[in-house]
Amino acid sequence: MFWLTYISNLVNGETMNVMILGAGGGIGLALLEAYAQAPETTKIFATHHRPVSDVSPLVNWLQLDLADPDSVAALAAQVDDAIDRWICCTGILAYPDHGPEKSLRQLNAEKLQCDHMINAVGPLTAFAALAPRLRSSQLRAAFLSAQVGSIEDNRLGGWHGYRMSKAALNMGVKCLAIECARWRNDPTIVAVHPGTTKSNLSRSFIQTRKAPVQSAAVCADNLKQLIESLQPEQSGQFLRLSGERLPW
Ligand SMILES: NC(=O)c1ccc[n+]([C@@H]2O[C@H](COP(=O)([O-])OP(=O)(O)OC[C@H]3O[C@@H](n4cnc5c(N)ncnc54)[C@H](OP(=O)(O)O)[C@@H]3O)[C@@H](O)[C@H]2O)c1
Repeated sequence: MFWLTYISNLVNGETMNVMILGAGGGIGLALLEAYAQAPETTKIFATHHRPVSDVSPLVNWLQLDLADPDSVAALAAQVDDAIDRWICCTGILAYPDHGPEKSLRQLNAEKLQCDHMINAVGPLTAFAALAPRLRSSQLRAAFLSAQVGSIEDNRLGGWHGYRMSKAALNMGVKCLAIECARWRNDPTIVAVHPGTTKSNLSRSFIQTRKAPVQSAAVCADNLKQLIESLQPEQSGQFLRLSGERLPW
């Protein structure tokens, strides 16, 4: 399979290096598998937090803990190729000792700080650390956010830490898009709501849900399609997988 992909790349003359953060997670791993099968993929840099097993010889696994600034800073030294696709699939909703908040009584400063480190600060500082590698002429960057991070769309309240940290991520993505539009390569940078998807993150919260929930494989296929169809004028937007815009 690897050699078939490699030969096909050579024949087509189209290649791309892909970086997926959180490639050990539900959506991240399915996306990794989708890109590993794409003939134009030459190399994948994939970060994991906990150990993962090998998927494809195209993958270079890198250890990353977004809660640790030294781990984020160390990323740069491990990636020596230009990156054409940056897809951040990391995120946290609940911890073993702390689920998402249902009311003010459950607010805990340490938990809120962890949410912000992992959901907003980590992804942004990782992008900054890799910036010299992100000057490819075809750079498309997607950060997985969540619709519940939309301030305008918040009608139910609760889940303070997740909502606040995803709203902070959204603002960070908007700032990146504005600043990076001054780069010569004119990158496209978006925040994406992947839709409710079966994964570790969602498992405890979808059991009673009546509406259908998509599999990680379906989510990844649609996400890849969205990323591959992104146009520079969409940079700085918050999108559903369908490409429809969400309010900030
Ligand atoms: N699933 C849904 O319904 C849904 C809905 C809306 C938005 N989203 C968003 O979609 C993205 C992917 O979620 P998912 O459903 O695939 O969840 P998931 O299976 O739990 O994957 C989350 C990923 O984040 C990584 N991660 C967590 N803490 C980290 C840390 N400190 N350092 C580095 N990586 C860390 C996890 O690594 P380890 O497993 O190794 O810790 C895992 O790879 C997240 O941003 C999530 O907020 C998901």
